Amino acid sequence: MDATEKKLVNNDFKDIMLNRHSYRKFKKDVKISDEEITQILKEAISAPSACNLQSWHFVVCNTPEAKKRAREVMMPFNYPQIDTASTVIFVMGDIQSHYKYRDVWNKAAENGQITTEERDKIFKTFLPLYEKADRNFLEKDATLDGSMVAMQLLLLARAHGYEANPMSGYYFDKVVPQFGLDPERYIPITSIAIGKPDEEFTKSVRYDVSEVTDFA
Ligand SMILES: Cc1cc2nc3c(=O)[nH]c(=O)nc-3n(C[C@H](O)[C@H](O)[C@H](O)COP(=O)(O)O)c2cc1C
Repeated sequence: MDATEKKLVNNDFKDIMLNRHSYRKFKKDVKISDEEITQILKEAISAPSACNLQSWHFVVCNTPEAKKRAREVMMPFNYPQIDTASTVIFVMGDIQSHYKYRDVWNKAAENGQITTEERDKIFKTFLPLYEKADRNFLEKDATLDGSMVAMQLLLLARAHGYEANPMSGYYFDKVVPQFGLDPERYIPITSIAIGKPDEEFTKSVRYDVSEVTDFA
């Protein structure tokens, strides 16, 4: 059976969301195939993104060599996850996603999903925003998109029968060069360790909703 045809192991939204916790130690002998990771990513990129720019990029560390390279940029408190996770996925932001922005809308027009007039209106409305934007704006935008897709990954890990831990405890400046990526184009957003848990998660508390909410 092709991975795309496989049913999710867990399709219970309440369980997936409310029982998600950060696990930091995983069973070492568990392999997740590249095929399954590709499937998880395929599902994850259904995430929304600003102007549908999809300003994300993934670096999958799914071999001992790649995980070694991941370890080299991690802060030591994240070594237990790196050393035991089946896979570690770096979610990067693409701050040049607007360079290829026309492709996605041309495709939508070709598919008949929108008219060419609608496409041209989108080009006129959104493209100038990004073409004139400074790096700070582009980084924020890509960080938002990357965070959306990262959250989907965390939940999808559970839907596929795994647990996960988001980790941004790495040496920010080292990540992009470590994976041979263009520093003019990519920024690190977070990384996600995925595997089968080998110890209990640490129970975390939340502030009361009233403490973090104003009804305006
Ligand atoms: C942006 C971000 C970065 C994080 N970085 C790390 C990290 O480097 N190492 C780690 O062990 N946990 C990291 N976490 C996990 C948090 O510590 C965890 O989500 C929080 O304590 C709540 O626990 P829970 O995930 O079990 O609900 C990170 C979480 C987020 C959202």
